[in-house]
Amino acid sequence: MSASTTDGTEARATAAMTIARQAGKIARDFFRNKDALDIQIKGYRDLVTAADHAVDRFVRERLSRLFPGDQILSEESAGGGDGDLWVIDPIDGTSNFARGIAHFAISLAFARAGVVEIGVVYDVMADELFFARNGQGAWCNGVTIETSRIDDAMAPLIECGYSNRHSVTAYLNGVRALTANGYDFCQCGSAALGLAHVACGRIDGYWELHLFGWDVLAGLLLVREAGGWTSDFNARASLVGTAVLACTAAISPELRLLTGLSGAPASQQP
Ligand code: IPD
Ligand code: CA
Repeated sequence: MSASTTDGTEARATAAMTIARQAGKIARDFFRNKDALDIQIKGYRDLVTAADHAVDRFVRERLSRLFPGDQILSEESAGGGDGDLWVIDPIDGTSNFARGIAHFAISLAFARAGVVEIGVVYDVMADELFFARNGQGAWCNGVTIETSRIDDAMAPLIECGYSNRHSVTAYLNGVRALTANGYDFCQCGSAALGLAHVACGRIDGYWELHLFGWDVLAGLLLVREAGGWTSDFNARASLVGTAVLACTAAISPELRLLTGLSGAPASQQP
């Protein structure tokens, strides 16, 4: 019997994928009935919808029932703790969701002693389930994924996530540094999905000046397990958050210089 079977990681991985798909159905139903959606303002240009709360309730209830000893930290209901920890974003890309743009995801990460062991990012409307296990690989709908192979004919495409938690000047300086060095950029509104797209090679990198653990822990594991490079992000620092860079390994030295972000080699990351 393998260690992950006996320590419960295998059971948690299976549960995380099942719960993400079931929660996706809840989100999809709300999205298709968007005109009736209850949208509230929880901060300056920061929305929360009835769908975020419904998915949050469902995921927390299912995880607590299956793994009663585990702690849960969610974007919509806080929580947390030092033991076995789930870090969840019920809907990442809430602004897109509220506007009827089908680019949002459910993100679930499981960490033990600060180390992320499981990452699930579910693209609800595309029905793509991205899944990673620490040290075992990354998959999309069961098929192995890898970060991109950079081709000289194409400028590397970096998603530069923006939020009002940092100054627009700092953001524009970062974008300027990238574009001046031959990179293209985009901004699509879901950090979790942006990272999943780095992991499967659709884009070459994701950079943002500040993100919380619920936005990125699952996605960062996806990128590392797909052979990419990521800056440091310890699960225990989820509530504080930090800057994030994740990219295909070949361009990581240059991107680290351009963004000023460091990080340990994937094999040594927390
Ligand atoms: C946001 C998205 C967005 C990123 C923001 C996040 P939310 O999360 O991930 O892409 O740029 O920094 O706050 O509010 O949609 O869960
Ligand atoms: Ca989020």
